[in-house]
Amino acid sequence: MDLVIRNASEVVTCDGPLEARAEETLGRLPNSVIGVKNGKIAFLGPESSLPASNATIIDARGGFVGPGFVDCHTHVVFAGDRSDEFEQRCQGKTYLEIAAAGGGIARTVSATRKATEDELVALAKPRLGRLLAQGVTTAEVKSGYGLDVRSELAMLQAIRRLSAEQPIELVATFLGLHAVPVEFKQHRTEWIRICIDELLPLIVKSGLATFCDAFVEQSAFTHDEARMLGERARELGIPLRLHVDQLTANGGAQLASELGAVTADHLEQITPDGIAALKRSGTIAVLAPTSTLFAKARPFAPGRALRDAGVPVALCTNCNPGSSNSESVSLAMGLACVENGLTPAEAYLGFTRVGALALRRPELGRITVGGPADLVVFACDSYRALPYHLAMNEVSVTLKAGRVATHTT
Ligand code: NIG
Repeated sequence: MDLVIRNASEVVTCDGPLEARAEETLGRLPNSVIGVKNGKIAFLGPESSLPASNATIIDARGGFVGPGFVDCHTHVVFAGDRSDEFEQRCQGKTYLEIAAAGGGIARTVSATRKATEDELVALAKPRLGRLLAQGVTTAEVKSGYGLDVRSELAMLQAIRRLSAEQPIELVATFLGLHAVPVEFKQHRTEWIRICIDELLPLIVKSGLATFCDAFVEQSAFTHDEARMLGERARELGIPLRLHVDQLTANGGAQLASELGAVTADHLEQITPDGIAALKRSGTIAVLAPTSTLFAKARPFAPGRALRDAGVPVALCTNCNPGSSNSESVSLAMGLACVENGLTPAEAYLGFTRVGALALRRPELGRITVGGPADLVVFACDSYRALPYHLAMNEVSVTLKAGRVATHTT
């Protein structure tokens, strides 16, 4: 063994049956130690069975150990600041009113276009550092603040570089259909054509993104426009995700289901028909409760109804400058319990096992012998303490691929 984690209250493997009650899926193992070799989990079991070695010891000091968190929806690569829009929302303006007046995504696009790739990398690093401090070991990052060919590619290049230059593994998503760029307002179909016929094939060929995505909303794109993207994505073999039913009820969940999207994200305004559609297609619901809070986009998504209908529910920070200026996994988990109606076990799975499935990375978000040693040692002794200690950080040590990435105590 290279490294052994001992003296944990329990190991929460998240490796129980997925169809079972969340508390069973957690697969909690008391009195277990974890052995790590070559970045993988090599041993999981009682200390008495651990093969002798002169491994580095991490003493969990009675805290619990779980898989590294997977934050499956972020926009952490951007330039600029929109604190004035937050102030306007606090004074009563809505997210959509601010966007209609030229603010919103367009503001961040204009700042991001002016930034160099080096600047985008430098600006994103501290955000990723804060996610890492929260126990995140894998994160998805979207483009969508460039919205011209050069700037979208610069964002994706920045994501690729960031994945190599700091501990969190990044999964890139091409979000060319995030907003209609100002210069295409009078001929939006031309921007959609550029995304679908030029950028998407290039991105697939160069492997610059793993997913593509579109924002279906009255301020952004229509069903038919997202359908064009979805059909082209299917031809090119790149899986689709969709931002839907966030600010207005737009039947987006049904669209995500029709297009076979891997995930339908946001869902504050989803209807019972939308929930049934997600269940039929096996589409994962990704909830972003910090953005519901921050964008004042009530109600919170019906997490309870989604879970009760058998829809897998993942959680994310949705860290971005407009609707969720937060890297707090702990706040997202707390809100998921208090406002989305999830139990602490369901919320924990949303950032682990189900979050990993949202990125089609089933080996992540769980602790299995032979699996990656992406691990978090917590200062508290139970997963329940995470949403209960609202918005506080209980992470003590984070390991990515068997290496200590943060150590805060
Ligand atoms: O996921 N909904 C669309 N995109 C982001 C918000 C982006 C922004 O306001 O800059 C989101 O909430």
